[in-house]
Amino acid sequence: MKINNICCIGAGYVGGPTMAVIADKCNYLNVNVIDISQKRIDDWNNDDLDKLPIFEPGLKDIIKRRRNKNLFFSTLIKENIESADLIFISVNTPTKNKGIGAGMASDLRFVEECARQISKYAIGHTIIVEKSTLPVRTAQTIETILNSEINSKNKRNHLKSFSILSNPEFLAEGTAINDLEKPDRVLIGGHDQESIKSLVEIYSQWVDIDKIITTNLWSSELSKLISNAFLAQRVSSINSVALICQATGANIEEVSKAIGSDSRIGKHFLKAGPGFGGSCFKKDILNLVYLCTYFGLPEVASFWKNVVTFNSWHKENLIKIIVHKLFGTLVDKKIIILGFSFKSNTNDTRESPSIFIASQLLKEGANLVIHDPKVNEIQIKKEIENFISENDHQNYPKELPFNNNSWQFCNDLDNSFNDAHAVIILTEWEEYKNLDWRKISEKVLNTAWLFDTRGILNKNIFKELNLNFWQIGTSSESK
Ligand code: NAD
Ligand code: UGA
Repeated sequence: MKINNICCIGAGYVGGPTMAVIADKCNYLNVNVIDISQKRIDDWNNDDLDKLPIFEPGLKDIIKRRRNKNLFFSTLIKENIESADLIFISVNTPTKNKGIGAGMASDLRFVEECARQISKYAIGHTIIVEKSTLPVRTAQTIETILNSEINSKNKRNHLKSFSILSNPEFLAEGTAINDLEKPDRVLIGGHDQESIKSLVEIYSQWVDIDKIITTNLWSSELSKLISNAFLAQRVSSINSVALICQATGANIEEVSKAIGSDSRIGKHFLKAGPGFGGSCFKKDILNLVYLCTYFGLPEVASFWKNVVTFNSWHKENLIKIIVHKLFGTLVDKKIIILGFSFKSNTNDTRESPSIFIASQLLKEGANLVIHDPKVNEIQIKKEIENFISENDHQNYPKELPFNNNSWQFCNDLDNSFNDAHAVIILTEWEEYKNLDWRKISEKVLNTAWLFDTRGILNKNIFKELNLNFWQIGTSSESK
């Protein structure tokens, strides 16, 4: 089947960049990205490309090239479903927070809603592609919903038919455009060879055919969850090794290099840090744990659950280290937090370690000054207030309005270090590597500490400075 019109439901971190790249690489296609959020669509259509809803290196240029040529953002759900030959479902699949499976299972209400709308509005034969990360066998649920209209008594509905593919996305934020343009692989799962061929045809416009892997539906759905579980497991593994390094005098950079040089292990995902964040690792592992329990595999569930449990413990342990170094109390101490996004080169703060760490420091009574090059103060305020209200808000000493002494957004980094008790690097933004630490050491208090939780600074610089230095995975604390 020749594809001319594509529709993507969900204009988020995956839908937006992925469709932009498809439109860029296949200019014969019409690509319509739709969303229920008018604000998100307005942001995608903003003339000022610095105000797109997502910051990703390289994204602006593609939007400039393709928007309103063969790439369109709108809220016209019915019209775009009707005209589509192929529809990507790219909506959010968060962890359920109520009812059966709460805290573990995926909340599939947005996916179900998409299936219902497609079922209602689609015309003729339509290929439905799961782009969202989903529990294994979700395609079956989608198929049941899609076919419910066809099976209804309404004769008009007999003119429609569907086939379902799974095509999970493996892009990482911060490198999304590069990952999409030069993917390690594209995975397509399905049972209908004709539909698989149609989707392969699109990707093969820019991806080598031997990098396009086709499987059955369930292998594809499962492979996405397992990829994220393996990656997250490596981060937890290396963070656990960082603690062994701290205890023994070994150095995490050296150990990572030594083990990563073994081609069987590989060098990626061996960077110790404050714990993994982002919208997916935790939710996808919890989803996997739920599936394992459901399928009667409690030991397997417990194996993967530990990856998440360790990650939470790791962040708590960082708080303990900070409080300990600052003489056991943070009350009224000025602490500068450098970085709020969950990793560099993105404005995404979902599940960022900075949220937990900042909230805990506030709970200890610290006065925070928070900086991030791409995250604005409204977003930081929202994340911390949500965290506090969803967790033990009664343990926070006072109401915490933003921009009072308790916590402030930092607009002027150079002038924020005066009399600080501590500086904590939580995101590995390039600009933090290049700060003038000599100057900063003259501004902070004499007993101040710099905590480099990302291991981005050269510790030798600090030997001569009036600044105590702690770095993840190293045991030497130099003055
Ligand atoms: P997101 O929250 O950024 O975007 C989802 C969008 O879907 C939102 O804008 C929301 O308004 C919209 N939406 C929800 N229901 C809708 C409906 N019925 N009709 C129209 N629009 C609707 O989420 P995301 O980060 O893009 O993730 C989407 C999926 O992709 C998730 O399953 C996620 O696990 C997976 N994924 C994410 C990443 C990533 O880096 N963020 C990478 C790979 C896979
Ligand atoms: C991750 C996967 O890398 C993508 O393949 C996947 O598509 C995506 O999840 C998803 O399904 O959402 P992402 O979360 O955007 O991508 O970013 P990563 O680079 O994987 O980083 C995740 C977290 O692990 C970040 O907090 C990062 O700082 C941390 N990390 C990563 C480390 O602490 N050390 C490392 O060596 C690597």
